[in-house]
Amino acid sequence: MFNRRHLFTSVSLSLAATLVVACQQDEQGGGGRPALADFQPLGNSGVDGTVEFTPLQGGRIRIHAEVTGLEPGSHGIHIHEFGDCSDPEGLSAGDHFNPEGVAHGGPNSPVRHLGDLGNITADAGGRGVMTIEVTDLTLDNGPRGILGRSVVVHADPDDYKTQPAGMSGARLACAVIRAQEGDTDLVLPGGGE
Ligand code: CU
Ligand code: ZN
Repeated sequence: MFNRRHLFTSVSLSLAATLVVACQQDEQGGGGRPALADFQPLGNSGVDGTVEFTPLQGGRIRIHAEVTGLEPGSHGIHIHEFGDCSDPEGLSAGDHFNPEGVAHGGPNSPVRHLGDLGNITADAGGRGVMTIEVTDLTLDNGPRGILGRSVVVHADPDDYKTQPAGMSGARLACAVIRAQEGDTDLVLPGGGE
């Protein structure tokens, strides 16, 4: 009797341990670390806001952007390759994040830069909110990783087809993507990414 009960307890404990590990993996999502990008206006655009990156289950990432100071209507928004917003026109952010060297597109195009997030639409008050989920990016420094890169909002709509950047026009605001906790290695030109 004693032996049997002891066995039962052991099995229960190891099952519980397995479940705890599984839950932790789900919460981390395999997609990396929660991150935040805090926009700074470029030049005198007055465009500001934030983008939150949240890892979800199954490697998905939720991207939630809130931007103010825009002209009403659609504005291209992309992840750019470098974590450098120092240039007044945002040129230091480089091109769209495109590790596969393919053509520009929209968020649902079969061929697209990994950084092509599409458009954010501003209301009459100039405020835009966008939430999308992606499965092909990671919040780390891996080959599809976007930590230490940047997000850029543009003056014009992204048409999802004109190369190399969808005719999105001038860069209005730029934000470096940083992990919410701990250090972030910035991705810079020639930085051996
Ligand atoms: Cu862009
Ligand atoms: Zn692109």
